[in-house]
Amino acid sequence: MTELIKINHLVAETDSDILFQGDNLAVRAKDVIGIVGRNGAGKTTLLNILKSTQSNQSNQRIVWRLAEDDISLIEQEVESFQFEETNFSNQLRKWQKKQAFETLSGGEKLKQRLFQGIAKNKPLLMLDEPTNHLDEEGVDELVDILKKYHGAVVIVSHNRYFLDQVATKIWAIEEQKITSYEGSYSHYREVRDHQRRTQQKNYEKQQKEIKRVKQEMKRFEDTSASAHAQSTKQEGAKEYYRLAAKRMDKQRKSAEKRLLKNLDAYGVEKVEKDVQIAIDLQTDVPRKGAVFIASDLTKKFGSKTLFTGGEFTIQSKEKVAISGKNGSGKTTLLNILLGEEKFEGNLWRSSSNKIGYLSQQVFDLPLKQTVAEFLAINDEQKSIVMTMFIQLGFQASQWYQQIEGLSMGERTKLKLLGHILSEKNLLILDEPTNHLDIPTREELEEVLSQYQGTVIFVSHDKYFREKIMSREIVIENEKIITKSEKAAPKKESDLTKLNFMKDRLMSELSTQIPGSKEYLKTEQEFNKVVTELKNID
Ligand SMILES: Nc1ncnc2c1ncn2[C@@H]1O[C@H](COP(=O)(O)OP(=O)(O)OP(=O)(O)O)[C@@H](O)[C@H]1O
Ligand SMILES: [Mg+2]
Repeated sequence: MTELIKINHLVAETDSDILFQGDNLAVRAKDVIGIVGRNGAGKTTLLNILKSTQSNQSNQRIVWRLAEDDISLIEQEVESFQFEETNFSNQLRKWQKKQAFETLSGGEKLKQRLFQGIAKNKPLLMLDEPTNHLDEEGVDELVDILKKYHGAVVIVSHNRYFLDQVATKIWAIEEQKITSYEGSYSHYREVRDHQRRTQQKNYEKQQKEIKRVKQEMKRFEDTSASAHAQSTKQEGAKEYYRLAAKRMDKQRKSAEKRLLKNLDAYGVEKVEKDVQIAIDLQTDVPRKGAVFIASDLTKKFGSKTLFTGGEFTIQSKEKVAISGKNGSGKTTLLNILLGEEKFEGNLWRSSSNKIGYLSQQVFDLPLKQTVAEFLAINDEQKSIVMTMFIQLGFQASQWYQQIEGLSMGERTKLKLLGHILSEKNLLILDEPTNHLDIPTREELEEVLSQYQGTVIFVSHDKYFREKIMSREIVIENEKIITKSEKAAPKKESDLTKLNFMKDRLMSELSTQIPGSKEYLKTEQEFNKVVTELKNID
């Protein structure tokens, strides 16, 4: 198949370190490549290198690359956007809105950009995290159009379900290396887990062998030492013992040589643990009672009505998910709760609310400040905060980095860290998992479900939503509908959850020692999940 891009060798660097390297990378005419890796691994950098000859962040031996003009890149986030009319059109034209870009919702902004980027119909389409902000319907429509796309597609994404539907090849950036895997994302996970398990087994075998060799050498040394001692003690037969000791020395040396050679054959490295993320959320435990009471709440933008007659109460310690399609008014409702948006009707707010707000956008941080300046930590707190910072997956050297240079996921983490530090009792989170890598999402899920304060959040990630929420408020057909309690999980979401658990347990197994107590425990859980999955089928 025609190669659009062919790279023999590639090294990308930051100021102080290698970001990643890769060999023999090729993008072929009909490839759909999914790029995966943790936050800050260099996924966006890789897209930029693939796209532009101007990229000076890297050393590269590029054999062939199509002209920059033949590539359409849809960036992760942009502050402003100019829509250009194209001759092409497709089923996504309805995503185009004739409205000032700044006033569009997060999902509407992205849809606008996706439509334009895809409609250009270039031989190579590159998408940087295209499903953040998208509602479920939007994701399905995107999958559909990508499946029909005539050219090659390269996608950076943390969304496993999306990747599984479109990608035919995976480039994983792990431990500063790009590795290419043929097949789907799930297949990549299986291969990776299998490789890790095999490596772990071989590593253990090797460690056992090293132990055995060491013991054997010690035995040789002991016998030879005692033979030498005998040879000086034994009068009369001295010469006989001296020769015997010498023979033993020789035997020992050749045995050592043989043993060491055996060891060389192994050289298995220890399996690197998957990145572990830890978030430690402090809370100022809220008082009992309501935190918000709304009645007859109405919001319109000009002639456009978002909702009318909204009635709801949110109690302290509740975990409320606000759901709805793109543009239904979720962010606007959060802004109303925050007191930052006008409305009609009544809204009462508790005066004891200490709100931590995570906005949907990533440009509201002081981009010129360094992390240290932004967090403004005194010397006393520094070591604790530094530990949290590293537990979130940052490098210590990033402490003095300007926020401008942080990846989108890292910016989100930095905002979260800001809230963790100041004790809040009410968190308002607008799509907190956007841009976050999988380990961080899982940890955030865990932490929020244990959190003692009140949480009001928006998320298009069904699994995340169901894990955290105790109640759902849906904006639908211009109404705010409150659901009384958590709906019983549907079969489909059970399946998602179980598959997800299976994934997680499998990767745990790959780092545990077979036969060990923890391994047996994980294995038991794993078998349980597999049985449950079978029952659902
Ligand atoms: N200043 C404005 N003028 C006109 N329309 C606006 C303005 N601000 C927001 N809107 C519109 O109001 C609707 C609701 O926006 P909002 O940001 O609340 O949506 P959302 O539910 O958060 O969507 P998403 O899931 O995409 O984040 C959108 O259709 C948006 O285009
Ligand atoms: Mg929104």
